[in-house]
Amino acid sequence: MQMDNMDNKQQFMHTPQYPVILCGFMGCGKTTIGKRIAKLSNLKFIDMDDYIVDKAGMPITEIFEKYGENYFRDLEHNACKDIAKMKGVIIAAGGGALTFERNIKALKEHNGRIIFIEVPLNEIAKRLRGDKSRPMLNRKDKDKAMKELYEKRYPLYKAAADYIIDGCDEPDKVAQVILKFINITDKVM
Ligand code: S3P
Repeated sequence: MQMDNMDNKQQFMHTPQYPVILCGFMGCGKTTIGKRIAKLSNLKFIDMDDYIVDKAGMPITEIFEKYGENYFRDLEHNACKDIAKMKGVIIAAGGGALTFERNIKALKEHNGRIIFIEVPLNEIAKRLRGDKSRPMLNRKDKDKAMKELYEKRYPLYKAAADYIIDGCDEPDKVAQVILKFINITDKVM
């Protein structure tokens, strides 16, 4: 068999005409899994936080410090509106992005597929031990704040999602399952 023109990438029959968005709590693996998906397919990876940082010209921690959470959420909403119009991209959303109705609405208006990466709280807590990069958790009562935020957000992620996936598996396996899902939905659409 001629293998010259073949690579390891999973090709789509045609580029999906919508963005694929990974959502879930901080530390669930959105960025790692998103990058794997991009490696395995012809989708382009975009990290929503990086997109916001580029536009704002300063890191997330500085945006929170200087202007507060509400200002960050407005920048995040603008990012969602931009991303909604993109095609053939795999997006790692910020952990709070898909808990706001206006963001879900913007993404779904353009047929965005939302995938919730589900990881239990005890595993998230393990992964985020010692992490100082998340302003939402940068406080003395970190464990309590994390639990409250997790419990508040969990049903919101579930409600927003077109597909829920176990994020405790190996990133490569999770990436493969997501690619399968995208291909299936591609064919029935
Ligand atoms: C946030 C999660 C972060 C980032 C910001 C706010 C949140 O993204 O958007 O610090 O509200 O959960 P990650 O989920 O990529 O850490």
